[in-house]
Amino acid sequence: MTTVLALETSCDESAAALVERDPQGRIAVLAHAVASQVEEHARWGGVVPELASRRHVEALPVLLERIDAAAALRAGRVQAVAATVAPGLSGALLVGSVTGRTLARLYGLPFLGMHHLEGHLCSVRLGERTPSLPHLVLLVSGGHTELIRVDGPGRFERLGRSHDDAAGEAFDKVARLLGLGYPGGPAIQAAAELGDPARFRLPRGRVSRPEGGHYPYDFSFSGLKTAMVRLVQQLREESAAAGEAALPVADLAASFEQVVADVLVERACRCARDHNLYSLVLVGGVAANRRLRALLQSRAAAQDLDVHAAPLAYCTDNAAMIGVAALDRLSGHPSGSALELGVSARLPLDRAESLYAEPPPF
Ligand code: KG4
Ligand code: ZN
Repeated sequence: MTTVLALETSCDESAAALVERDPQGRIAVLAHAVASQVEEHARWGGVVPELASRRHVEALPVLLERIDAAAALRAGRVQAVAATVAPGLSGALLVGSVTGRTLARLYGLPFLGMHHLEGHLCSVRLGERTPSLPHLVLLVSGGHTELIRVDGPGRFERLGRSHDDAAGEAFDKVARLLGLGYPGGPAIQAAAELGDPARFRLPRGRVSRPEGGHYPYDFSFSGLKTAMVRLVQQLREESAAAGEAALPVADLAASFEQVVADVLVERACRCARDHNLYSLVLVGGVAANRRLRALLQSRAAAQDLDVHAAPLAYCTDNAAMIGVAALDRLSGHPSGSALELGVSARLPLDRAESLYAEPPPF
């Protein structure tokens, strides 16, 4: 048995988990706990970095107690300590990193600095069915929208990306526009439930190539956001002229959610087919979206693609997914990262291997 203690503090969720792998490679989450700060940041309409760092400092000891980390460490049941060190908010990352390195040092264990996106990629392995390799991952979170080919632990190739906003960011901005609050994803999903997803026609954000044509697997959500702003403005003017007050929020939310899901699914399926990848994986905060999950299941099935979505509990930020990624890295790097490894606000996923280099990259 190999067990890691994993910490996640890259944005506005503090999380800790104990994750175990048995000799057959089966993974089990022994304990995991998340403390969300979203309610606090909601007052400001988005994440306040300084506030996030302070809340991580307060939350981590409580979370470590909740998962009984001290008992596991003292009993020698933990073989490594891992913490997300990139990418994310620097101050927030530092809290997890310093806590993780301190515990590793105290208990004489290796410390693994983890890449946050690698954690998201691994979150699907916390589900009942594990996707076969190679597979294509549609990673949709608050900071990233990417199509990534995965050939094995630590072996990734990015095949598509957003050229501007991430999908989650678009949900958050449009939710604010519609007066639905933060975080936008769950708020739009709830508002869209009784709406008509076909009422408004919205742009699909195709990205032009300088030499002509389009990038087939890339995304752009800034035009969609602008179209929503104009539409809301126009509807407000019309309803004011007609003496009505209410905006058709449910139809707006449903139409927006539909076009985002449709574009993500269409390009992901096309990318998978063109690259002869028959397993398609959905991860990241936006992967919690019901319409997106359902659409991907139905479209992909019609094209003989096998879909695996991360379990709902592990779509948004958590430490269990970081633990799975850490178990993979521990096999190839038994002594872990250098203890003086710092944090990086923006390290690309294809440089994640450098986190285990000597000397460390930052
Ligand atoms: O992965 P995550 O927790 O943090 C990042 O790494 O960014 O993703 C957070 C994002 C937010 O933008 C949030 O609005 C979005 O995921 N999200 C959703 C849903 N739940 C969370 N978007 C659409 N539908 C949801 N149900
Ligand atoms: Zn995330």
